[in-house]
Amino acid sequence: MKHLLTTAAFVAFGASAAMAQTVGFSQIGSESGWRAAETTLTKQQAEERGIDLKFSDAQQKQENQIAAIRSFIAQGVDAILLAPVVATGWDSVLEEAKEAEIPVVLLDRQVDSDKSLYLTAVGSDLVHEGEVAGKWLVDAVAGEECRVVELQGTTGSSPAIDRKTGFEQGIAGADNIEIVRSQTGDFTRAQGKEVMESFLQAENGGKDICALYAHNDDMAVGAIQAIKEAGLKPGEDILIVSIDAVPDIFLAMAAGEANATVELTPNMAGPAFDALDAYMKDGTEPAKFIQTESKLYTQDDDPQGEYERRKDLGY
Ligand code: AHR
Repeated sequence: MKHLLTTAAFVAFGASAAMAQTVGFSQIGSESGWRAAETTLTKQQAEERGIDLKFSDAQQKQENQIAAIRSFIAQGVDAILLAPVVATGWDSVLEEAKEAEIPVVLLDRQVDSDKSLYLTAVGSDLVHEGEVAGKWLVDAVAGEECRVVELQGTTGSSPAIDRKTGFEQGIAGADNIEIVRSQTGDFTRAQGKEVMESFLQAENGGKDICALYAHNDDMAVGAIQAIKEAGLKPGEDILIVSIDAVPDIFLAMAAGEANATVELTPNMAGPAFDALDAYMKDGTEPAKFIQTESKLYTQDDDPQGEYERRKDLGY
């Protein structure tokens, strides 16, 4: 099996460097509650393992992430965690990290670079998440005509691309369901609300919309506000299905204002540090993709209890 590090470089870590001591983390930003929880958990995981985590918030900009990675390389970190804002444009900087013999682990999003340029990627099956959401809607409308509006995530990001594909696969064959409008809300509440307002306006004040599919819960929460301000009942007049399972969507579900969410665990760092530990200890190559679980929650799944269980977890 081909190791990312050369044998000489691997030996150079030596017994005392059996674990990563210093890890750089290039985080996208804080666009959503889910992202905030991922940041909190990554910092907690690092602290528990005695890792010095160098954290960099890219404020949604790929150029900031590239600059952060270059800075981590210059500082000689043992490993780098990267949550890539978009899927393209990483080849050069990943090659620089490889050249410097620093393993890179991708968190929660994918890149289109050659797999040899990173050690592993930890994340969920993003297409499957969208498919689960689509299938939920097929069952929920039970053959009734349903005009769907879609709030996409950040343009060019792997979850926006894959969750769209997955949802389309989920509703394929259901001729009663049609996506009539689809636009990015950039994974934020504010843009979710703003774009939903324009959807409502364009669709007879919302009367012609049967369901909203949002690529994350934060956009759904923003859209719920817009629907209420338009005088409609979210969760009844317009069905709401989204992804992440953040505490606020459970509050909305408990109030009958949202219908379903697909969970994405924010603990990507645990499996990432485990993989790095094994790799740095004896060269164990992790699988190229370490998949986390995705679970569907509906109003029948004790949403108030789910809110209580999650509300202090850093979201
Ligand atoms: O990459 C994961 C997505 O990014 C989450 O679903 C979303 O909330 C986030 O910001």
